[in-house]
Amino acid sequence: MQHLSNTINTNGYIANEDDLQNITNRIKATTDISHIHEFLGTRTSEKWLTIAKNNLPLLMLDHANCEKKAAGTAMNLIFRYEFHRELQERLAQLVREEMLHYEQVLTLMTQRGIEWSHLPAGRYAKGLLKHKRTWEPAAMVDVLIIGAFIEARSCERFSALADVIDDEKLARYYKYLLKSESRHYEDYLHLAQSLCDESIDERVAFFRTVEADLIDSPDDEIRFHSGIPSWV
Ligand SMILES: [Fe+2]
Ligand SMILES: [Fe+2]
Repeated sequence: MQHLSNTINTNGYIANEDDLQNITNRIKATTDISHIHEFLGTRTSEKWLTIAKNNLPLLMLDHANCEKKAAGTAMNLIFRYEFHRELQERLAQLVREEMLHYEQVLTLMTQRGIEWSHLPAGRYAKGLLKHKRTWEPAAMVDVLIIGAFIEARSCERFSALADVIDDEKLARYYKYLLKSESRHYEDYLHLAQSLCDESIDERVAFFRTVEADLIDSPDDEIRFHSGIPSWV
């Protein structure tokens, strides 16, 4: 079966470019995320980066949870908004990619001897979702805008972490993620705008302020999307 050798590895049917061994050993991914830096209202603080790089096992566990939740949230949207064909297609791809990331992070954790343990979610997603309007289609617009911010922040943090951690393989993996996570951000934003005739800019600006405050205010926990560590 020589002709299939590029698409099959020991983990099953995974394209060569998504093969974890390739990614962590060889791939030098370069994805321009300047548009994400412009989109977000603030950049990750040095304090967060210092604490995060010294707590990578916990961060990896939280990252795994985030991938799983990203897939679960998108799956819920697929069921809830079944009339929106483009949403079905874009989010079906997103679910596949998030679950692949979930598997990859679990493998990276196993390779580093990190055991699974229950880790409660931080305040970030709740802090955004509490502002979601309750009537349709406003609720749908808000949840898609929130999705865009979560994806954009993930991207910004993967990129910032990749520059400071000592684990080179993990840094390569974080850089590999920028391509799909920045597309997820664009997809969510595009889908939010697709629901409205008028511009969503004002609502995006509102969530930009809320999101930046969650990132820039003191936080008692360290998580992938937590604020400034309050104990340093
Ligand atoms: Fe992901
Ligand atoms: Fe994503």
